[in-house]
Amino acid sequence: MAVDVQVTTRDGEVIASTTQRPAPPCAIVIFGASGDLTHRKLIPAIFDLYQAGLLSKHCAVMGFSRSQMSDDDFRRTARDGLEHYGSQVSERAWEEFKSSLHYMSGQFDDPSSYQLLRQRLEKIDAAHGTQGNRIYYLATPPELFESITAQLGDAGLNHRRSEDSFARLVIEKPFGVDLMSARELNGHVQSVFRESQVYRIDHYLGKETVQNILAFRLANGIFEPIWNRNFIDHVQLTVAETVGVERRGGYYDQIGAFRDVVENHMLQLLSIVAMEPPVVFEAEPVRDEKLKVLKALRRIPPEQTGEFTLRGQYTSGKLESIPVSSYRGEEKVAPDSWTETFVVMRLQIDNWRWAGTPFYLRHGKRLPKRATEIAIQFKRAPQMFFPGEERLEPNVLAMRIQPDEGIALRFGAKVPGPTMQLQEVDMNFQYGSSFGPNITQADAYERLLLDAMLGDRTLFTRADEVEQAWAWAEDIQEGWAQHPNNVHFYQAGTWGPAWADAFIERDGRQWRRM
Ligand code: BG6
Repeated sequence: MAVDVQVTTRDGEVIASTTQRPAPPCAIVIFGASGDLTHRKLIPAIFDLYQAGLLSKHCAVMGFSRSQMSDDDFRRTARDGLEHYGSQVSERAWEEFKSSLHYMSGQFDDPSSYQLLRQRLEKIDAAHGTQGNRIYYLATPPELFESITAQLGDAGLNHRRSEDSFARLVIEKPFGVDLMSARELNGHVQSVFRESQVYRIDHYLGKETVQNILAFRLANGIFEPIWNRNFIDHVQLTVAETVGVERRGGYYDQIGAFRDVVENHMLQLLSIVAMEPPVVFEAEPVRDEKLKVLKALRRIPPEQTGEFTLRGQYTSGKLESIPVSSYRGEEKVAPDSWTETFVVMRLQIDNWRWAGTPFYLRHGKRLPKRATEIAIQFKRAPQMFFPGEERLEPNVLAMRIQPDEGIALRFGAKVPGPTMQLQEVDMNFQYGSSFGPNITQADAYERLLLDAMLGDRTLFTRADEVEQAWAWAEDIQEGWAQHPNNVHFYQAGTWGPAWADAFIERDGRQWRRM
């Protein structure tokens, strides 16, 4: 039965309504239940689904971690998480919801813990009517993925319990750190679960605005004919962050900006922008088209990484007048580290649609502004008629993923007055003004969890996509490893090393000002 979902402002005003299939009965087992992700994202997302009527009344959560905790302790920390990171909590909803939260402490590699888990899940089936449906969510550090999966298999928890039930595995990033580790992990996971049971998360795909790129491209006939090399000069993808590495210095120092954000989130954005329309809007055709883009991505030979990529690392500086430390001064970062916190790249997609149209990627931490944007820069008009027209910025379609979510089209217009003088103006769609100023946008995890329960894998990455992305990244990693210190410093609070400007200017182009 479908549920009427109303899009409301925080004040409760209904501004749009739609119908949505609610999740089926199900037990969600969260491995790593005492961790940050569970409190910040997963429990708030599950609770919001509950409040929206999208969670089945027959749903239960089983937290699993090493920490000793009672069900009540787990419920208390869940409530704390909701207060800090969730949306408004209705007391009535919380009172009903909290009894569906359970917890058990166990060792991730101990078979007896999984026997206990199996018994607890059977009890949950009886008490909550979860009908043997299971989601196993791996929210642990990645080094535990293999052992948890193996143990689930040994305990027989990887199989569905009947023809009508399901057992699914949801895996958080990072999915491997290079091609070899991603292949090994895929091989291992697929020796226990069938690919159709596996849901690999890239939380960017759950973002409302990222899904809107698909709607924008596929539901509006006017853009598709110009979405190609004949009309588009180049594309710029920016993921700019003001935050540094926070408390993740130990992890980040091993990984760097390229593997943390570019290789996964940005390649996903790129494949959605560049893919061909799928035959039907279903998981496999959509993922097939994304995979084709990754396959067409030109490899950058190690000896050419200096030409097509540039790395940076932040030194101390100021953000909004507040002094911040250098990357090397961050907790758990090596004082002589050469790990990159900033990357720019020039990529080419070798297919008919995009041949010769560069895609510029820019990502960094401790930049002056938080902004994720995809800018489609169109070619200039073939002839110039008006004085000063050459100084006008060509048409740009800017898709703003976050914050200030929206889409803007920039074009030239005549300035009112007696002379034929032109100026750039924007035609703007903003979520805020079109759907109400206080629109509550569902968190990416809400959408992804709901899809996992519904069995829709469109917004999850497939094994071959993950491996293709790593295969492409390998040459770059190799090229960088040959020149580990070829990293340019930039002051925190600036737009990266000065070389980043030269990098794009030599092609006669400029980075978008955010
Ligand atoms: C995570 C990275 O995957 O994505 C973080 O590990 C990064 O370093 C984050 O800050 C960005 O996500 P969002 O949703 O804040 O843009």
